[in-house]
Amino acid sequence: MRPELIDDVSQSALDPAGVGAARIADLFHWMVGGGVVIWLIVIGLAVYSIVVPRGHRPRLTKTLVIGGGAVVPTIVLSSLLCYALAMLPDLHQPPPTGSLTVQVSGVRWWWRVQYRTDNGQTIETANEIRLPVGEAVDFKLTSEDVIHSFWIPSLGGKVDMIPGRMTRLKLHPTRVGTFRGVCAEYCGTAHAQMRFDVIVMRRPEFDDWLSSQRSEAREPAQQPAIRGSVLFKRKGCGACHTIRGTEAQGRVGPDLTHLASRISLGAAIKPNHTENLRRWITETHHVKPGVTMPAFQSLDEGEVDAIVAYLEQLH
Ligand code: CUA
Repeated sequence: MRPELIDDVSQSALDPAGVGAARIADLFHWMVGGGVVIWLIVIGLAVYSIVVPRGHRPRLTKTLVIGGGAVVPTIVLSSLLCYALAMLPDLHQPPPTGSLTVQVSGVRWWWRVQYRTDNGQTIETANEIRLPVGEAVDFKLTSEDVIHSFWIPSLGGKVDMIPGRMTRLKLHPTRVGTFRGVCAEYCGTAHAQMRFDVIVMRRPEFDDWLSSQRSEAREPAQQPAIRGSVLFKRKGCGACHTIRGTEAQGRVGPDLTHLASRISLGAAIKPNHTENLRRWITETHHVKPGVTMPAFQSLDEGEVDAIVAYLEQLH
């Protein structure tokens, strides 16, 4: 039995796997260091004032108030400010021209992901972002409804996704691995289940993946997937979902053209396997409370099997 929760992927800003995240972790460590120094001085003086009787203390009150209340905080805070300001321009520098561009839209409660290929083709996927290691990537971020916030703690800082506006983020992964992305701005019922998978791969594997995502879905050749494709049409799934190469052209929900190639379901809340796919279709709201997709409870066992078989051959 596979684990139901998929939280074994890295989601820590303190275990950086990207240039931006490494800077942020550095800044955090300096801030903790500065905070500890101030804390030790303040607590030391407090203990001193309790332990040493009044008559035995040197007359240093004025010096301590000025030093501890103004000079030391000014030095510590100015140093941290200078450090942070010095690293900002680099983080906000646009990536070199010709870099990979990924456009991501926040939708309650999932992520529309689009890649622009060299020949101008747009490839759409959902809730999974694959990136080549060692390259700067230009993210163009927006929202289709409310404000969301795009955050991959292991790779860099977070940026708000605002309806009607495009925000930018440069990420530069430095290590191969699977990382967790999350929505970092409260956006309604399923905010906590609005997550995505980030898979950082070597360039040749990334190129293979991207070219595999280019292809359209083929008509299934075997039962029960053939029956599943008919049911998918008849039940109106195509009104919300796109499967490129078929009549299904809906834009409300995630593109399912290569669903079987993704590692998770429901915006990275469950591993992508048969049992979870069945549950997603029939008990949608138990799997993810608040989700806008209706549960198809009226389907019989055989019909669910057929639809699942159809979806599972969408590699
Ligand atoms: Cu989207 Cu919180």
